[in-house]
Amino acid sequence: MTGSKTLLEVKNLKTGFKTDDGHFLAVDDVSFKLEEGKTLGIVGESGCGKSVTSLSIMRLIPNPPGKIEGGEINFNGRNLLTLSDEEMRKIRGNEIAMIFQEPMTSLNPVFTVGNQIGEAIELHQKGLSKQQIRQNGRDAEARRYPRTR
Ligand SMILES: Nc1ncnc2c1ncn2[C@@H]1O[C@H](COP(=O)(O)OP(=O)(O)O)[C@@H](O)[C@H]1O
Ligand SMILES: [Mg+2]
Repeated sequence: MTGSKTLLEVKNLKTGFKTDDGHFLAVDDVSFKLEEGKTLGIVGESGCGKSVTSLSIMRLIPNPPGKIEGGEINFNGRNLLTLSDEEMRKIRGNEIAMIFQEPMTSLNPVFTVGNQIGEAIELHQKGLSKQQIRQNGRDAEARRYPRTR
C-alpha cells in the first residue's frame, strides 16, 4: 500500500533473561512493522514471547534479570532504545501505552474507564483543565467502547 506511514518498527529485537539455569533469549530476532491507523495482532503459544516483546517496546523489562540486548524499536522516527529514562517516561502513557493482561489489577471496577484513562492524561498532559481531562477521557472511552456513554 502506498501513502501509509510506519508508526512502529521493531527490528531484530533481542531480549534476554538471566536465570538460575543461565542466560536465555526470550525474544530472539523479532521484526515487524505497524502502519499508522492499523491494528496488528500477535499470536503464539503461551511463553513464546508476546508479553516480553510488548514490555520491551514499553521499555518495562525488569533489569535485572532482563535486558534488551539488541535491535531497534523505531517509534515515530525515534529509536526508543536510545532514549533516556526521562525521555521514555514522556512517551510512555502519552504516545504509547500498554493495557496489562490482568484486568482486575490494571483497572479498578469502582471507577469508570473514562476516569482511569483521564488519570493517565492528567499525569502526562500537564496544563489541561479538569473539564478537558474528563472530556478527553470520555472521548477515549467512547472510541474504544462505542456503546458506553
Ligand atoms: N522476569 C522474567 N524472568 C525470567 N524469565 C522470564 C521473565 N519474564 C518472562 N520470562 C520468560 O520469557 C519467555 C517469554 O514469556 P512471555 O513473553 O511472558 O510469553 P507470552 O507469549 O505467553 O506472553 C518465557 O519463557 C518466560 O518464562
Ligand atoms: Mg503474555
